[in-house]
Amino acid sequence: MKSSKTSFIILYFVSNIFVINGLLCTNCTNTIVAFNNATEPLIECEGQLFEADVCQVIFHMNYLKKEIYLSLIGTHGQIGYYNLDLSVQNKFDEPKIIDTNITFTCNTGKDCAKHFYTATVSNFILNERILHEIETELFDPAALNIDQCSDNNDQPVKCQNGYGCHGFEIMEIGKTNFEGECRNDSTVTIFPRAYFRITLVQSNPILSTDWNHLGYTCNKGDLCNSRQKIKKMVKLANDYYPWEFIALNSSTKLMMTYMHIIVALIFAFQ
Ligand SMILES: *[C@@H]1O[C@H](CO)[C@@H](O)[C@H](O)[C@H]1NC(C)=O
Ligand SMILES: *[C@@H]1O[C@H](CO)[C@@H](O)[C@H](O)[C@H]1NC(C)=O
Ligand SMILES: *[C@@H]1O[C@H](CO)[C@@H](O)[C@H](O)[C@H]1NC(C)=O
Ligand SMILES: *[C@@H]1O[C@H](CO)[C@@H](O)[C@H](O)[C@H]1NC(C)=O
Ligand SMILES: *[C@@H]1O[C@H](CO)[C@@H](O)[C@H](O)[C@H]1NC(C)=O
Repeated sequence: MKSSKTSFIILYFVSNIFVINGLLCTNCTNTIVAFNNATEPLIECEGQLFEADVCQVIFHMNYLKKEIYLSLIGTHGQIGYYNLDLSVQNKFDEPKIIDTNITFTCNTGKDCAKHFYTATVSNFILNERILHEIETELFDPAALNIDQCSDNNDQPVKCQNGYGCHGFEIMEIGKTNFEGECRNDSTVTIFPRAYFRITLVQSNPILSTDWNHLGYTCNKGDLCNSRQKIKKMVKLANDYYPWEFIALNSSTKLMMTYMHIIVALIFAFQ
């Protein structure tokens, strides 16, 4: 696990260390590929390079269909070095949905978005098992009632006809907040009855809009939204995508970035 996570980060920085003006980006739009053919469309689009300000890749992983919707473009506009937008959802009850959407925009080298895709896609495929592991921790399809959930202060509260406990952690540049409550049929919410979700917005240099959210509604036992349980889910989610890189405070994060660039340079010139 550790080494695959490290190579995930290293590969990604190797593809991002050469800053170039008048960027060339592959154009390969609206392709649908099977998981076991994840890099095939890139062969088809080989050589379709166009000049742009930033390269962008959008990929939607559908874990139920085992398909990826992929779009690579060169576009205009200004960013720092890169922006990443990641959201993952696992809707436990029927109709089930398990998907991940990623938008990565960069200007750090020829075809940097395509490199990000090829460096990360197999990890996103392999790490599906972690999404199932999280589901097993949180969801019991046979459960009927929940008697107790943790509240915003991680104190147990009694639920009335509760179908689940809701909990989330939100991190915004160095600040972390937790919340928790009971869910019953009177609860008005836009979220599915039982689900798990990660949302992440990240950029380099760090913007004030960088944030990171993990939330769920569970029904596997009373107090399944305790702070301890939420932290355990954050840890698991870190194995799906390397979150510790984001969870760190700004100064540590900056240091980590430099460390990874140094590692990437050594790697590149070996
Ligand atoms: C990229 O491909 C799409 C679809 O094939 C096409 O409509 C668009 O004009 C292309 N962009 C460039 C810059 O060639
Ligand atoms: C993988 O891609 C190749 C070439 O595009 C195609 O012939 C093959 O059927 C694809 N395989 C799957 C499982 O989609
Ligand atoms: C991913 O994008 C599709 C299409 O826009 C949307 O239906 C789905 O809800 C998105 N999933 C996530 C996890 O954001
Ligand atoms: C849901 O919980 C609230 C607060 O505990 C309670 O007032 C309400 O009556 C409950 N709704 C149902 C349908 O039991
Ligand atoms: C950030 O983390 C480092 C190392 O854990 C710590 O020494 C430093 O005080 C933290 N800074 C802030 C602003 O929390």
